[in-house]
Amino acid sequence: MWQGSRYLMQIGTKIPDWTLVFGIFTSLAFALMIYFARNSLARAKSLDSAFAYMVYALARAVEAKEEETGNHILRVGEFCALIAQQLGMPRQFIDDIRVQAALHDIGKIQTPQEILTKPKPLTPEEWDVMKRHTTYGAVIVGDHERLALGRNIALTHHEKWDGSGYPCGLKGEAIPIEGQIIAIADQYDALRSRRPYKLAYDHQTACKIITEGDGRVMPAHFSPRVLKAFKTVEAEFAAIYDKLKDNNAAEEFKADFCPQNP
Ligand SMILES: [Fe+2]
Ligand SMILES: [Fe+2]
Repeated sequence: MWQGSRYLMQIGTKIPDWTLVFGIFTSLAFALMIYFARNSLARAKSLDSAFAYMVYALARAVEAKEEETGNHILRVGEFCALIAQQLGMPRQFIDDIRVQAALHDIGKIQTPQEILTKPKPLTPEEWDVMKRHTTYGAVIVGDHERLALGRNIALTHHEKWDGSGYPCGLKGEAIPIEGQIIAIADQYDALRSRRPYKLAYDHQTACKIITEGDGRVMPAHFSPRVLKAFKTVEAEFAAIYDKLKDNNAAEEFKADFCPQNP
């Protein structure tokens, strides 16, 4: 018999002890690894959702100033994510633009209320004031790397592919892709929604205006590849708009937080 085997038989009671210790140790280490991995994953998820919550809270503060009680910021985020997906953008970009698109009009917090809610067309001077919400927005969002997308969106969401937009008159690919995407998403939603100075259009009319133009909105305003992506997924735009139709947020809040009358 192999000497080693005989030796093993002689000390046979010791070998299971060490095996047991080793087994317990590795199981414990494995369990701890799973515990810490799950813990840090849960913490990362919680931080992500707190981050998104704060972005929406900030955006809603501005919507309240505009006397908007709808889901505009949520719809625009979903439209942007849909186009980004159609363009084959990375997963992280799609997730980020869905949330940070909500910051596009954050600079309106510094726009006078009477201009924001004026029921008539703005004068040229009022337009100049209104246009500043883009640069104010970029300053408010700041320069944290996690909010770089939101900052670009606030700054460039009114730039136009043909260079006729504001605040910088950027042209073509000089406009960051997030600015190109939100331009069409925000435009579609603006056309579908009632404003102090206009009625809401139906889906077909909004698409016709974007793809063929109406003198005010022109296809040349949009990036050709973003416009192409929009045409491919326009039916889903309609579905998102219907799913996230405006509601009366103030009334819902009251219903949620105020005790019901007996
Ligand atoms: Fe804007
Ligand atoms: Fe908007």
